[in-house]
Amino acid sequence: FSMPNTELVILRELLAREPGFLSGTALAAKLGMSRVSVWLHMEKLRAQGFTFEAARSRGYRIATRPTGLHLAFIQAHLKGRRDLSIAVLDEVDSTNDEAARQLAAGRSAPFVVLARKQTRGRGRLGRTWHSEANGNLYASFAFRPRVAPGRMAIFTLWMGVSICELITNFTRLSPGIKWPNDILFDGRKAGGILTEARIDSDQIRDLIFGLGLNVNGPATDWPAELSRRAVSLAEKIDGPLDLNRFTAALIGRVLLAFEQFVDGDHVTLFADLWKQFDVLRGKPVALLQAGRRIAGIAQGIDDEGSLLIRTSQGRLQRFHAGDVTLEKSDV
Ligand code: BTN
Repeated sequence: FSMPNTELVILRELLAREPGFLSGTALAAKLGMSRVSVWLHMEKLRAQGFTFEAARSRGYRIATRPTGLHLAFIQAHLKGRRDLSIAVLDEVDSTNDEAARQLAAGRSAPFVVLARKQTRGRGRLGRTWHSEANGNLYASFAFRPRVAPGRMAIFTLWMGVSICELITNFTRLSPGIKWPNDILFDGRKAGGILTEARIDSDQIRDLIFGLGLNVNGPATDWPAELSRRAVSLAEKIDGPLDLNRFTAALIGRVLLAFEQFVDGDHVTLFADLWKQFDVLRGKPVALLQAGRRIAGIAQGIDDEGSLLIRTSQGRLQRFHAGDVTLEKSDV
């Protein structure tokens, strides 16, 4: 049993009234406390980056929102899922590693680990993931799905395009997905996915879906080697996104996508979304795999999520893993 979080209730009530005002009396009644106590809780929120606009006889509304991750504000934006456990950490080695430790300690899933900064952010293929506290998102979702390990590849691809669709709905931007799961804008990377699972004989025991998404990272903040290869959503829309509102929308979408996947309800939408967001289809590509370079034209994916490439000899080859690059076409 835990005390209901007063700040969370205040934020939820204020959001429910937007763009209108919420009267101090109504809020005090809702919380069962005096107006003075309500005011003290609002002082706490002010110290956390909120400001409130007060209008005589009408009440309050939110005027300024915190720019960084704020747990209660994320929760206040989440419509359902009120019992979902979310942690916001100031700094962690890797949110995937933290989620793995918590799963190993027996914590019940699903749960979400978010961090403002990672000191050992990890990418695919043993790479590091640049993880400064710069307004970008570092998130891990822990699940205990009862699905066969062979479905992992499709799971990751499905999550990637689900997130592309969420970004489209939220920002009106159109990202692309580069197999297996780089989220791109014009060839520059805005997000990456690292899915890790522990497998018991023929069943997934637990699964961690890790997402690094460049949300509000400013263009000047990247290390030199990333500056021309990385891009943030804020750069694309010329201004910062409301990180907490976006994060809540993301959490809702990832949980929904997970449930659809487990129930097998994703199949049709997955095929449509993959066609919509796939940046490789029909393009000349090169795939590096164990020191080999295979060049050809990308032909989408097969039922298991493998990439299909038609080589210059006309053979259709499938690849479970590898690093693909788009080749400059001659035309
Ligand atoms: C890639 O494109 O190589 C995948 C990058 C995945 C980065 C995210 S950030 C949150 C989570 N924690 C990690 O250490 N990695 C993932």
